[in-house]
Amino acid sequence: MTAIAVIPGDGIGTEVIAQARKVLDVALPGYTATEYDLGARRYNDTGEVLPESVMNELDGHDAILLGAIGDPSVPPGVLERGLLLKLRFDFDQYVNLRPSRLWPGTTSPLADVKPGEIDMVVVREGTEGLYAGAGGVLHAGSSAEIATEGSLNTRYGTERVIRDAFERARRRDRKHVTCVHKSNVLAFAGGLWKRTFDEVAAEYPDVATDYQHVDAAAMFLVTRPQSFDVIVTDNLFGDILTDIAAAVTGGIGLAASGCVNPGRSHPSMFEPVHGSAPDIAGKGVADPIAAIMSAGLLLDHLGHGEAATAVTDAVAAELAERTSGEPIRTDEVGDRVAARVAGLLG
Ligand code: IPM
Ligand code: MN
Repeated sequence: MTAIAVIPGDGIGTEVIAQARKVLDVALPGYTATEYDLGARRYNDTGEVLPESVMNELDGHDAILLGAIGDPSVPPGVLERGLLLKLRFDFDQYVNLRPSRLWPGTTSPLADVKPGEIDMVVVREGTEGLYAGAGGVLHAGSSAEIATEGSLNTRYGTERVIRDAFERARRRDRKHVTCVHKSNVLAFAGGLWKRTFDEVAAEYPDVATDYQHVDAAAMFLVTRPQSFDVIVTDNLFGDILTDIAAAVTGGIGLAASGCVNPGRSHPSMFEPVHGSAPDIAGKGVADPIAAIMSAGLLLDHLGHGEAATAVTDAVAAELAERTSGEPIRTDEVGDRVAARVAGLLG
């Protein structure tokens, strides 16, 4: 039986995860869900971020579904590094998968881009790069302060995520991978990325490739987002580019993600890209689509392809009927999508 650890987290996290669970209830009958209270509330109450015992329990699950972590009451970095990044790093979730599609019924802020025309996935490296914490500070707080933050890139880590991107591209219609870095300036890391990309590409003659510097890629995501299929890039570039990709495809409320450990040596984690949004928390107006789509990615990862497709199709149908300007009711969206999934799976 599939065991899923659920971390609703803070703010709208609890609201959107409740909807994702309604959908899982119909898409994956018989799974067990164990809720873990982690995030700002636990930290403020107990000082705990992610106890080792909880880490071990999480490790025993098939996957993790996470809502959102963070609150203004917690100093920046505590939960990001101690919880979110710890899970990604310690569970070796090296593929940070971030699909973006412009669905019928949604609108892009870009003129001349029509629904159906944008369909891309960013394969963001999830365990290295500038997120590795390789740096330090001298003379902190003084006028002579010096801070360094190094980007850690290994051949092993680079090759495995690039290979994953090619495997995904191979399963898609356009079969195209764009490698994004900044090799004209970041010669060491960029050189490794580019060389590794070219070597792996030689093993995939059926997949077309190109390379873009990250500044150009950021521009092209806005000027011609239709041109992208699969993008593979490092941790920080991927963080930035996926916010742009979300923005041009209807906003962060629709952006799903998976922090994937493809070999399944540890659980993968699925989470909406958006945060805890304290400003709208508790009002029942958060869009649960990103959380629901993240549950869809979870299903796909665990090999439930038919259920995953039903979730995608149900979300597409829900979005197609949206009229712009009409307010979102979180629980109603969850009910409707779950009902559609039930109908599709018969
Ligand atoms: C994201 C977030 C995180 C990241 C933060 C909260 C650590 O921005 O998931 O994109 O930078 O990866
Ligand atoms: Mn981000």
